[in-house]
Amino acid sequence: RGKRAFIAGIADDNGYGWAIAKSLAAAGAEILVGTWVPALNIFETSLRRGKFDNSRVLPDGSLMEIAKVYPLDAVFDNPEDVPEDIKTNKRYAGSSNWTVQEVAECVKKDFGTIDILVHSLANGPEVSKPLLETSRKGYLAAISASSYSYVSLLKHFIPIMNPGITTWNLQSTVTPAGGASLSLTYIASERIIPGYGGGMSSAKAALESDTRVLAFEAGRRHRIRVNTISAGPLGSRAAKAIGFIDTMIEYSLANAPLQKELSADEVGNAAAFLASPLASAITGTVLYVDNGLNAMGVGV
Ligand code: NAI
Repeated sequence: RGKRAFIAGIADDNGYGWAIAKSLAAAGAEILVGTWVPALNIFETSLRRGKFDNSRVLPDGSLMEIAKVYPLDAVFDNPEDVPEDIKTNKRYAGSSNWTVQEVAECVKKDFGTIDILVHSLANGPEVSKPLLETSRKGYLAAISASSYSYVSLLKHFIPIMNPGITTWNLQSTVTPAGGASLSLTYIASERIIPGYGGGMSSAKAALESDTRVLAFEAGRRHRIRVNTISAGPLGSRAAKAIGFIDTMIEYSLANAPLQKELSADEVGNAAAFLASPLASAITGTVLYVDNGLNAMGVGV
C-alpha cells in the first residue's frame, strides 16, 4: 500500500502544510490532517464547498483527497491538561478528542498506523514584541505551541508509526515502509531577524536542537527519522499575522543566490524527498529550502 501521512497544522491552502500535503499526495501518500480547533469549522466548510478545489489539483490532473480532518490543539497533551475556560469556550465546545493523545488514539482507531508525521504549526502570542519586551507567559506560550507541540506529537504518534527497516532496497518498486517525521523551522533561530519576536526565535532554536535529540532517540528505539526544514519566507496566514513578511520576501528576492520568489511547493517537494526512502540515511538535519539565502554573509 502507499504511505499514510498525518500533517498537523493545515487550516487553509496558503501555508506550508497544504503544500507538503500536496507533494506527499502526488507521491501517492494518503493524507490525514490535524487542524487547530478554532479554525476547524471554516476549513471544513471551505473544503466541502470546493473553495480549495483549484489548489487541490495535482500534477496528474487529479484532485488531492484528504482522507480525514482531525480537530487538534497541540498545546494540550490530554484532557486533564485542558483548563475550564477552554473546555467551555464556544469555539471548542463543538469538537471533541482534540488533545494530542486523543488525536493519536483516534488515528489509530480509524487507520491503524501512519508512516509520515509532519509538524507545520507555530504560535507566538507576543511575536510582534521584541524579546526584551516579551512576558514570561508569552515566551512560554511560544515554546509550548511551537516546540513542545512537536515533542508531544512525536511521542504520541511513534507507537502507531511504521518503523524503518535496516537496509533500504532503493531499486525495489515496492519501497519498504519506514517512519519519517519532519517539522518547519526558520533561520531566526540562529541569526538575528528583528521582528521575529515574542520568543519565537527561541522556540525555533529549541525545535532545531530537539530535532537532533529526537533523531537519536526515535532512530535508536524505532528506526524513525527526524528532520526539519528551514524554510524561506512565505506569505502564509501565520506569517501575515507577524507583519513583516513582505519585507522578508523582498529581502530574499534582492539578496538570495536564487533570485526568485520561493513557492510553497518547493518546500513541499523537499518534504516529500525527506519523507521518502531517497532520504533513508538523512536524520537529525536542518535542511535549508530558502533559495540559498542562509549562505549569504552580507546583503548585496
Ligand atoms: P500557516 O498559518 O499555514 O500554518 C500554521 C498553522 O498552525 C495554522 O494552520 C494554525 O491554525 C496552526 N496552529 C497554531 N496553533 C496551533 C495549535 N495550538 N494546535 C494546532 N495547530 C495550531 O502558516 P505557515 O507559515 O505555513 O506555518 C507552518 C510552519 O512553517 C510553522 O512552523 C512556521 O513557523 C514555519 N515557517 C514559516 C515561514 C513563513 O515565512 N511562512 C518561514 C519558515 C518557517
